[in-house]
Amino acid sequence: MSRDQRSRLFRSALLFFVGCFCGNYWFKFNLTADSVAKREAGSIQAPPGYEVKTILRSLRREHEDIPTEKETLCKCGGQRPSHYLSPWQLANKQKEQAESLERFERRRIDLKDVYNQVEGSSPISYPAHGVYCRPRRKVRLNGVRIDWFDASVVQGQTQLTVQLNAEKGVFDLASSVDYVAAEGEGTAQLTIRTTNPSLLNRQLLYIVYRNTLYDANTFDLVRLQYAGFTATIPVHIQQVQLPWLYDQKGGKFQDRVTVVVKTFYRYSNLKRLIASIHEYYPGTRMVIADDTPSKLFTSVQAPNVDQFRMPENIGYFAGRNLGLSQVSTEYFLYTDDDHYIRNDTRLHMFMSLLDKTNFHLVSATYEKRESKFSSTLEVTGENNHICLLQRYEPNHFHEIPGFPGCYANEICQNFFMASTNEVKSIGFDPDQALARIGHEEIFLSALGRLRTAACRNNVIGHNRKGGPEFKDYGKFRNPGEKSEALRFKYNLFKHNLACTQIDWGMNTTKTKTKK
Ligand SMILES: *[C@@H]1O[C@H](CO)[C@@H](O)[C@H](O)[C@H]1NC(C)=O
Ligand SMILES: *[C@@H]1O[C@H](CO)[C@@H](O)[C@H](O)[C@H]1NC(C)=O
Repeated sequence: MSRDQRSRLFRSALLFFVGCFCGNYWFKFNLTADSVAKREAGSIQAPPGYEVKTILRSLRREHEDIPTEKETLCKCGGQRPSHYLSPWQLANKQKEQAESLERFERRRIDLKDVYNQVEGSSPISYPAHGVYCRPRRKVRLNGVRIDWFDASVVQGQTQLTVQLNAEKGVFDLASSVDYVAAEGEGTAQLTIRTTNPSLLNRQLLYIVYRNTLYDANTFDLVRLQYAGFTATIPVHIQQVQLPWLYDQKGGKFQDRVTVVVKTFYRYSNLKRLIASIHEYYPGTRMVIADDTPSKLFTSVQAPNVDQFRMPENIGYFAGRNLGLSQVSTEYFLYTDDDHYIRNDTRLHMFMSLLDKTNFHLVSATYEKRESKFSSTLEVTGENNHICLLQRYEPNHFHEIPGFPGCYANEICQNFFMASTNEVKSIGFDPDQALARIGHEEIFLSALGRLRTAACRNNVIGHNRKGGPEFKDYGKFRNPGEKSEALRFKYNLFKHNLACTQIDWGMNTTKTKTKK
């Protein structure tokens, strides 16, 4: 068989193969097929810098609904809004909530997801993740290019047309290319026409998007159309976000960390805490928020201690929030008044973890409660019907490299060191519902917004019964079922939750969370 015969045989075999499979598969010819294709294409001449290729294109798209595991079922047997309201009250409340939620979503500054399907067969190349642009500024649409042309269209000198549309901006051309017609420069719809592929791509290099509608953080979707293909290019419009840097002063612990304490009446506990800070971290400023009633109020004046007197019984989270508002260091350490620093508590390790990782908050372990140093949340339900199951098994995620015994988690203890700026952006909710007791609330607010961690081997002292005030304190503070219910109900409605529950795990009998 001559070389020519062999090649002809191969060609027939190939065409047969193509005939059988066309419509079911599509692929680019390999090198051998390519040379055949070149001969088939015969007279078609590629312009310089281009080559002629033949492709098979599937005519059918598989549109099969692949069954996916339903993740939407609520896994929660705890508190539900219906436990607190009658059916008609609930219906009214839900209507009000739907409206609140709509306003909340409208104000959200973080970008929503865009579903952006990139067609595999499209000849349009572009930055799929989009480009960034400051509001009312310009950006080049770098990387926009037509990668392949229908050879017969080029052969026939047909007009090649690219059309671009924007909603919040207009298109400029940094430069005009000869023999290319551009229409709509300076408007939201730009059309480019030419018969020459190279000139078309050259002109595309010079397209500039200019934002005209100011927004601090949003995106515009630029639609690019060419020969029946469409690409959607997100333009992320983002005003500069200025950093908030803290003066490091001498760079020592006391220059970089402020201790925030919420206290109520338990002055002997508070004094023990102050003494322990003075002993192990001398010179550290303490901000004490105190809502003790006048007749019991006691001044705890000491060096570096600022005691802020609040209206009596204004509340736990209200006090935490006041304390945080007074912090002017990069980090703060939150502690309750019944905690204290032990000789083996390592707060420098917390500072180091915040310095060296991207975590925002890291918490310690309470003595005698070592197994409950951390927990995670199981989030089920769909969109606006989220159910939260707080779990102590598993109680954390991965260990943080370089910090043995410290793990990523979702719910921490009430003793933690955190970055001031980020926790301020969430804040402690001063609502009366969290006046008497609160714990998880700051972590629910932090979900998806802050990275939190807990260390099992960094233990603090915790002694609620430390002082003579304990008996009287109980009268004021003991939450009782009513406060618990108020708090559960508040959380459900505040976060638009369908259900919340705590699973204490196999090895524990339920004990109440206490401040
Ligand atoms: C730390 O405190 C414990 C208990 O108070 C004590 O037994 C231990 O000797 C102390 N260790 C040091 C190094 O001071
Ligand atoms: C419960 O405790 C036992 C013994 O302390 C331990 O072996 C087991 O792993 C624990 N179970 C879980 C689910 O953590």
